[in-house]
Amino acid sequence: MTLIRTGMLTVNAAFLQDLKDDNVHLRELLATVNDVLSHASYRSIHAGAFAELLSGLRDQLATHFTLEECFGYFDDAVEVASRFSTQADILQAQHASLFSEICEIVDEAECLAYGEPNACPMSLIVERYRLFHRVLEAHENGERELIMAALNEDIGVGD
Ligand SMILES: [Fe+2]
Repeated sequence: MTLIRTGMLTVNAAFLQDLKDDNVHLRELLATVNDVLSHASYRSIHAGAFAELLSGLRDQLATHFTLEECFGYFDDAVEVASRFSTQADILQAQHASLFSEICEIVDEAECLAYGEPNACPMSLIVERYRLFHRVLEAHENGERELIMAALNEDIGVGD
């Protein structure tokens, strides 16, 4: 196992590679959804293809969240300043609500694709997805900032 050491913090290199691959897939899926939403009017979005795309995104998010939760942001063996671990707990707790939200959006998209009589219209599903996407981006930015802040403190960058 290759470990990357920066002062106190230790990051597993294999984990970093997994995270990198996982992030590439996740970014591609998010970009594809955004592309669909930016070029098409709601009427021209194919409900079946959209539901399939969102269900792929849900599955990728399941992998993404599981990876982060299994490995944690930091190596368990090291002492991380308590304000960082509190923030890490808060961020990880957001996974459950984010995942439940994408599952509900996928359900709505599938109901629409199957032509169920009380299905939500595409406009509402898209609106709900856009809100979900904003919350997900804020969550991801929070994680990046946390890791950078902890690493910077660890290697003595900054004040
Ligand atoms: Fe996360």
